[in-house]
Amino acid sequence: MEIIDPKQICIAKCPQGLEEVLEKELKNLGARSTKVLVRAVSFKADKEAIYRINLHSRLSSKILVPIDQFYAKHPEELYKKVKQLDWSKVLRLDQTFAVMTTVSSHHFNHSQYVALKAKDAIVDQFYANVNKRPNVDPKTPNIKIHIHINDKECTVYLDSSGDPLFKRGYRMQTGVAPINEVLAAGMLQLSGWDETMPLVDPMCGSGTIVIEAAMLATNTPANILREEFGFMNWPDYDDNLWEKVKEEGFRSIKPTSAQIFAYDKALSVLKYAEQNAEEISLNELIQFKRKDFLHLDPPAPGGLIVTNPPYDERIQIEDNEAFYKSIGDRFKQAFQGYTAWLISSNLSAIKRIGLRPSKKITLFNGKLECKYLKYDLYSGSKKAKYANQD
Ligand SMILES: C[S@@+](CC[C@H](N)C(=O)[O-])C[C@H]1O[C@@H](n2cnc3c(N)ncnc32)[C@H](O)[C@@H]1O
Repeated sequence: MEIIDPKQICIAKCPQGLEEVLEKELKNLGARSTKVLVRAVSFKADKEAIYRINLHSRLSSKILVPIDQFYAKHPEELYKKVKQLDWSKVLRLDQTFAVMTTVSSHHFNHSQYVALKAKDAIVDQFYANVNKRPNVDPKTPNIKIHIHINDKECTVYLDSSGDPLFKRGYRMQTGVAPINEVLAAGMLQLSGWDETMPLVDPMCGSGTIVIEAAMLATNTPANILREEFGFMNWPDYDDNLWEKVKEEGFRSIKPTSAQIFAYDKALSVLKYAEQNAEEISLNELIQFKRKDFLHLDPPAPGGLIVTNPPYDERIQIEDNEAFYKSIGDRFKQAFQGYTAWLISSNLSAIKRIGLRPSKKITLFNGKLECKYLKYDLYSGSKKAKYANQD
């Protein structure tokens, strides 16, 4: 059975706030008929584009491909409809599977129960036909099935990514509050950074932002280190096509003259950052140094700062508001001529930065609602801009 039908509407999921940049990325990777949704973009694509998107996408966390759609008003009806699909064409007896659900419907109260009914339908069909069944593996299934229910409309998808795409494979060790790789890549896209501007992350932790920047500058496919994707377990998997897409991906890697600087005051996480960058062979592109930001001098006369300071959530700081005030003071005193982008969920601390942001974007770091703020650090006559925020 061909799972990927170029006429069907696929879904790319992403953190909230990245939908528009993801839409642009998908178009560049060969997606058609794109549409921005909430925490997702819908699109059409052929098999080659689905493989290419999985290899290259920096901004989506998973790519779902539909295999069935029907109406149901209660779990029993859903059970019946799921059982009508010929699952032997999707799933082999020696493969494991798992069912996940996203429910937005007053007809279905419990998404877990929906998942259970769908799993029962699949298992019962196998028992009825061959008196054997494939096993469920909730953690690392070969086939991940997603059922989305919107009112009465139920769509059954297969997850072509398998493990979420933020698991790039370079991050071997992290500090206590690493940022999601997809979010870091999204922050860079939203900042408008390109390799002509020096990039600084003065609180780099395990290096996610600078490593994503180095990947971007060298056009390194986001998932080049991954050996497994969900689509490889599908009956329509085309190994030659995948090799061709990967070859193209390798050929697209280019040299860069980008200047990327990473600092942290903690030596332990800085070492992790260097090791993580080495894992993807980008360590020589990034200059790592142990430094306290409050004493950091700019490494270049102008450039872009993209950073993720502690929020006082997972990393507790004695006086977080005073720390944010010092960040603002350092911006004003030492980083004139730079543009700074900072993400934080700590709204009262953000106010203490004492600069008026020229842009504010709401992003989610996991479940934490954050503001991603742009500060233009003018010099000279534009000092008036440094009025306190309201
Ligand atoms: C939220 S973590 C950054 C996580 C990072 N984006 C990642 O993906 O791993 C904040 C980092 O700020 C660092 N930090 C805190 N105060 C600092 C200071 N005054 N100067 C430099 N780094 C600092 C911490 O050591 C920590 O690694």
